[in-house]
Amino acid sequence: MSHNLEDLPGSRRHRLRPSARALTLSAVSVIVVLILSAILWVIFAGSADHLQTTFNPKSDNAIKIHDVYTLVWILAGIVMAAVLALTLAFSLVFRERPGGKAASHIHGNPKLEVIWTLIPVIIGILIAIPSFQVILDTTGDAPDGAIEIVATGHQWWFEFEYPDEGLVTANELHIPVGRPVNIELRSVDVIHSFWVPQLSGKVDMVPGHNNRLWFTPNTPGEYYGQCAEFCGTSHANMRFRVVVDSEADYAAWVAAQTSDAQVAEGELAQAGEGIATTICAACHTIRGTGAAGVIGPDLTHVGSRGLIASGIVDNDAEGLAEWLTNPPEVKPGSKMPNLNLSGDQIEQLVAYLQGLQ
Ligand code: CUA
Repeated sequence: MSHNLEDLPGSRRHRLRPSARALTLSAVSVIVVLILSAILWVIFAGSADHLQTTFNPKSDNAIKIHDVYTLVWILAGIVMAAVLALTLAFSLVFRERPGGKAASHIHGNPKLEVIWTLIPVIIGILIAIPSFQVILDTTGDAPDGAIEIVATGHQWWFEFEYPDEGLVTANELHIPVGRPVNIELRSVDVIHSFWVPQLSGKVDMVPGHNNRLWFTPNTPGEYYGQCAEFCGTSHANMRFRVVVDSEADYAAWVAAQTSDAQVAEGELAQAGEGIATTICAACHTIRGTGAAGVIGPDLTHVGSRGLIASGIVDNDAEGLAEWLTNPPEVKPGSKMPNLNLSGDQIEQLVAYLQGLQ
């Protein structure tokens, strides 16, 4: 059933006249979309060195997820190119010409409708099969021999416990290359989300409901993680790093971390220990000193870490002093208050904490 346009109620034939304009618009949109896609591609593909990128996967599971991304990207690219090309072709071929036939209106073409219903169904199936496959592959049980780690979300920092090794740390997770890790995810307060884009998909840390994820890192290096679920004031400051060590470096790290705290030589550090085991002990554990607080991070080997304050401050004398002077200023909402420490006390504490290697 077809109508001449003039027969359609309310149709205004003259509105269709500027076909040159339609053509130009289509051409411009095609060019703009292609340029934008090219820019995005360059940004994303060029972001391989970016601190948090999914485009440079460094574990078995991250590679599988990346492969699905790539497939979807290619299929979406084909759809986009086809739609744009058809838009352009239609505006060229069916444009109104002086003396040409008037445009006709088409209604109901079973063959066409079957085709444009089937194509998206096929594309959907092409995406669904590998997606479900990857979900099954990456969320099943961890391979045998996986290192067990418990990661706990706190407002606002990550705690990492290695139950088999008997060690607890914060902000920095060390794992050996080539060995699967099975990370149990917990939260003590609100919902957080554990995400290291180069190593794994993201999984929520839900209070009262332990989740888990596993992966096998394939390249030594340092990878950046971030809480990926809004969890309050300093959600954006809730970061951590995963250090993928060689097998030997990992063994050395475990050996060092499982020992008790060692106080550095020198008057400053000794004086700092006095402050740490009284004031700091209310919230922090320092194994071997009697300090056994559980509100803040375990400080037994805090000097060996590269970062403090949930991964946002460099762990050097300057960073430690800045943090100890006024924690909530560095990390808004910090549960560690301003302790009004004197300059001398801060100097002593910095010496002591740096010595906790
Ligand atoms: Cu923890 Cu956002």
